[in-house]
Amino acid sequence: MAEYHDVLEELNKHTSLHDKVIAAHKSISETFPFIVRIAITIYDQDTKTLKTYLHSSGDDSPLEHYQVSLDDAPSLKAILDKGLPRIVNNLLTFEEGHHEHSTRIGRQGYAASYTLPMFNNGVFFGFIFFNSDKTDVFTENVLQQIDVYAHLISLTVINELISIQTLAAAVKTTSRITHLRDPETGTHLDRMSRYSRLIATVVADKYNLDDAYIEHIFMFSPLHDIGKISMPDSILLKPGKLDDDEKTIMKTHAAKGREMIDELLENFGLKNIEYIGMLRNIAELHHEAINGTGYPSGMKGNAIPIEARIVAVADVFDALTSARPYKEAWSNEKAIKTLKSLAGETLDQDCVNALLQNMDQVEAIQQQFVENIYG
Ligand code: C2E
Ligand code: SIN
Ligand code: SIN
Ligand code: FE
Ligand code: FE
Repeated sequence: MAEYHDVLEELNKHTSLHDKVIAAHKSISETFPFIVRIAITIYDQDTKTLKTYLHSSGDDSPLEHYQVSLDDAPSLKAILDKGLPRIVNNLLTFEEGHHEHSTRIGRQGYAASYTLPMFNNGVFFGFIFFNSDKTDVFTENVLQQIDVYAHLISLTVINELISIQTLAAAVKTTSRITHLRDPETGTHLDRMSRYSRLIATVVADKYNLDDAYIEHIFMFSPLHDIGKISMPDSILLKPGKLDDDEKTIMKTHAAKGREMIDELLENFGLKNIEYIGMLRNIAELHHEAINGTGYPSGMKGNAIPIEARIVAVADVFDALTSARPYKEAWSNEKAIKTLKSLAGETLDQDCVNALLQNMDQVEAIQQQFVENIYG
């Protein structure tokens, strides 16, 4: 018998989610050449927003780094409310009389589109878009075949997202068990992960960061201080300044963090998570300084990975504006002054600018995730 190649064999390999979506698209377009793009948006339950995540076209998406409240995307909300996919065979007609300019996540610049909601055990987690460059192509026969691909892609995406959730849950449980009074819980992590995403979005063009990268910064940044789990309470919760010996011990939290991440990945069988190098860098390198005075390795400038530079700014800004066992919360004005003086010295100038130029969004994050006595 002649050798036969599974048309979707790419999906079996250990490649990135992005490469898998590209492979699925390539396979679909052999049968349906009019499908010129597959795009995925994911849903943030906390803020009820949709965020662009991945797409298969090589060029820049018309809507890269975009997010919209589900309530402001009525035609997408209708898909969810009805529980049915949406077929638009002529987007030019569909657009007439609509004012959804800000909500056109998946269809901009295309002639027709097919949109399916993605669910995991009944919980909505995003949409998948198939865009066509021709009108009137989504017939029932075509849709039946595309549905199979859509479900495969949806499973691949959820597999990735669940791995990260598992890791985050493992970290949370580990920290609960070892440190019932961990000072860095709750709203600090909510805020700093959103500052990190904000900064990443602003510097994305300069550093060539795509949506999936930005989303991973958001998901991974709350784990930056995982190494603090191994610090004794006498240091971690000390109500005053640390002495030199205590500082030396505290500084080991960075390298410890990386070791703990490696151990968790090993123990939970999660070593194949995409972008896992980013997480290691965030845990280990978030206290490196641009001028080389940071720890653990004293790297300088652009040698420090961008994810670590981004998280450093988010972490310091939130540390300054939050109460810690050793300090009161500072006002935004005072923290802004300090950030300006640190920019170009210890903190990355672009990342500081990104945050300070978007104080309206910073304040919105602070209002949504308010500090309480429990952190
Ligand atoms: P953290 O509280 O999450 O602070 C993160 C970083 O924010 C600090 O890294 C520092 O760069 C900045 N930061 C926080 N508070 C201040 C401040 O009052 N002034 C200025 N200029 N920067 C501030 P750093 O210094 O490497 O500290 C790492 C961790 O060590 C801190 O994480 C905290 O858990 C602990 N730590 C640092 N200093 C003290 C202290 O005096 N007392 C106690 N109990 N813990 C401390
Ligand atoms: C919408 O239709 O409201 C946005 C989604 C899309 O662009 O297909
Ligand atoms: C909090 O902000 O959530 C608690 C105190 C801290 O920042 O660690
Ligand atoms: Fe830290
Ligand atoms: Fe922190």
